[in-house]
Amino acid sequence: DQPLRVLGAKADVLIGTAVDMNALATDTTYRERVRTDFSAVTAENVMKWAELEPTRGQYNWGPADQLVAEARRNGQQIHGHTLLWHSQLPTWLTDGVASGDIDSAELTEIVRNHIRTVVGHFKGKVRAWDVVNEAFTDGSAPVLRDTIFKQHLGDDYIAKALRWAHEADPRAKLFLNDYAIDNVNAKSTAYFELAKTLKAQRVPLHGQGFQGHLDLQYPLPIDAHENLARFDRLGLETAFTEVDVRYFLPGDTYKTAGQVGSFNVLLQACLLTPKCVMFTVWGFTDKYSWVPGFFEGQGEATPLDANFQPKPAYRGLQQTLALG
Ligand code: G3I
Repeated sequence: DQPLRVLGAKADVLIGTAVDMNALATDTTYRERVRTDFSAVTAENVMKWAELEPTRGQYNWGPADQLVAEARRNGQQIHGHTLLWHSQLPTWLTDGVASGDIDSAELTEIVRNHIRTVVGHFKGKVRAWDVVNEAFTDGSAPVLRDTIFKQHLGDDYIAKALRWAHEADPRAKLFLNDYAIDNVNAKSTAYFELAKTLKAQRVPLHGQGFQGHLDLQYPLPIDAHENLARFDRLGLETAFTEVDVRYFLPGDTYKTAGQVGSFNVLLQACLLTPKCVMFTVWGFTDKYSWVPGFFEGQGEATPLDANFQPKPAYRGLQQTLALG
């Protein structure tokens, strides 16, 4: 019965979790599990712009610095999440842009400064950054989401963000990250095409993150490996960055089995892909998962139950890692 991080080391893949800083501060069982089972951590919220800079010009580094310090004590890598995302932006920023108080030139300066400040603050400590999160729309014909960044910095805002991040920490791996791109589909292909374009333009892009938020009512992304492999062939790192598998409660043996299979399809896809560097779950215990709060009636999406007892999904991850 070996911890996930030990099995992951043998299979040469980081095993990560999102960390809820409130749980880390108040729940010793939670904190101990983060330490023993994981070799990488992602801030579930505290590195997002609204959390880091709630008031313009006043950065609140406290919680993120605590996570970094804890991870370094535990010998864990840190996955930085996230520099630019249309969600969880500070209200001073969204209000300022909406009212016209902040124009395009000023927003460009603000974004550049934010990236420089945050990447600079964690320079040498963060292994990789989700530079832009969830840039594309859903559906059969994905386009760049119509965010304040696209509107005011232009269609090349992703290239700009990658270049600014690279200047601030040349050693950090720079990722794009999104959901619903775990299999070969229109949205993952949009990322593939973007990656080819950015590489051709010598833009510093080093990796593609696949969130892996699965829902048992939708088809299993059975071709996840084929999908990751095409990014791998471009020379990019790949990673599952936010894996969980939700279903409608109550659970039953079929749902449990489906969940085991779903986690394993993604983990196997990673293990089969040479430069897949990390498999991260978006929370490891049902006690603190984001799922019930966002999807009414759904839950039990993580590998440990609310009492931190391993579920079959956890055993499945152990077995798949042991097979390497
Ligand atoms: O910070 C406030 C706190 O001050 C307040 O007291 C509390 C009361 O509701 O709310 C707190 O903010 C919440 C925050 O989580 C921290 O707990 C927000 O309301 C809540 O919306 C936020 O949810 C996060 C969500 O992103 C926001 O979109 C989830 O925890 C987090 O798991 C989720 O993570 C995202 C990834 O970043 C990107 N991919 C999808 C994934 C799941 O949605």
